[in-house]
Amino acid sequence: MVELAPSILSADFAHLADQVQAAGDGGGTVVHVDVMDGHFVPNITLGPPIVRSLRKVTKLPLDCHLMIENPDEFIPAFAAAGADWVSVHQEACRHLNRTLHLIKSHDCLAGVVLNPATPVNALAEVLDIVDYVLVMSVNPGFGAQEFIPGSVHKIRRLAEIRAERRLNYRIEVDGGIALDTVTDVVRAGAEILVAGNAVFGQGDPKSNAQRLLKTATEATLLRV
Ligand code: DX5
Ligand code: ZN
Repeated sequence: MVELAPSILSADFAHLADQVQAAGDGGGTVVHVDVMDGHFVPNITLGPPIVRSLRKVTKLPLDCHLMIENPDEFIPAFAAAGADWVSVHQEACRHLNRTLHLIKSHDCLAGVVLNPATPVNALAEVLDIVDYVLVMSVNPGFGAQEFIPGSVHKIRRLAEIRAERRLNYRIEVDGGIALDTVTDVVRAGAEILVAGNAVFGQGDPKSNAQRLLKTATEATLLRV
């Protein structure tokens, strides 16, 4: 089962409720919220107030991807604002185990994120406590960047480790997911597909989401 998580980073923020509704009508089942602090990544986006507003206009789970330093300081505020899933970067956490437990203590699903340059091995000691692993297929910070093909083997490896170790985490992929890249990541084992530009970049978010999800679902039949 693959799910589409439209990323509001590429949405029109003046019409956020409508855009989220349209992406949901097109089959999006998770709303991906990119939080950037201008330190961990070279861009600034949004914080808990937007999450609180989104919470009022959608029942879909809010997947908050924290691209920030010192995430422990902000996790309680995101949880209080209505985040359902919270993910943190391996590269930003000095005490990753503690941070993941902090997320869980707020009744959110806990995810860990890998930058393109970080190997899957770096997660060996936390894979048994995370609900999902997010593989970045671009360097985080901006929407509409080019997909990094080297990310595909990391998705495949995470699926193998899950089977070998009998774990339960889900595998999410983020960055450059579009009609021309989605088949490869789904075949490798990606189950939650983040897409910003491909959904909100141009045209109608509903039909964009439908098309992407259709291609992704067809690819599940080709899984190896
Ligand atoms: C990038 C963000 C992504 C971004 C993906 O730092 O984490 O979620 O929105 O955008 P696209 O789908 O446009 O590559
Ligand atoms: Zn993201």
